[in-house]
Amino acid sequence: MDLVQHLDRGLAGRYAIDREIGQGGMAIVFLAHDLRHDRKVALKVLRPEVASEIGADRFLREIKLAAGLTHPHILPLYDSGEAEGLLFYVMPNMEGHSLRERLDAEGQLALSTEPCESRARSLQRLTTLTAIT
Ligand SMILES: Nc1ncnc2c1ncn2[C@@H]1O[C@H](COP(=O)(O)OP(=O)(O)O)[C@@H](O)[C@H]1O
Ligand SMILES: [Mg+2]
Repeated sequence: MDLVQHLDRGLAGRYAIDREIGQGGMAIVFLAHDLRHDRKVALKVLRPEVASEIGADRFLREIKLAAGLTHPHILPLYDSGEAEGLLFYVMPNMEGHSLRERLDAEGQLALSTEPCESRARSLQRLTTLTAIT
């Protein structure tokens, strides 16, 4: 049984996997349907080989950090758990929201009125987060 089938079975009744939207060194991210709330979400799953070779610590730390933060530039944590032994967490789907994707779709972006100071603070916060995760 492949990862998607395994995951789909473990998540039955809660989320339905649509398709893969990204991969990183630690995890695979899927577009999924949140059945309870009838909405699309991004569901990030720890790669089973990473879980067995390196362990789940880093992934669990990422979940804990996301759960403890409320910030306009950091995605909120919707849910987390284990599906048939696979660790996952759920967040908003940000597909199409990268700068390149927005420039391609909208041509030219409007200038933000957000003060630079606030941006600098966000960047500093993210840098700190990246350093500890
Ligand atoms: N919330 C999201 N919405 C849409 N795509 C996402 C989301 N989170 C991650 N991705 C995609 O999945 C890829 C891998 O996710 P990432 O968090 O970088 O995994 P890793 O922790 O393994 O590096 C990202 O590069 C991005 O393309
Ligand atoms: Mg990554």
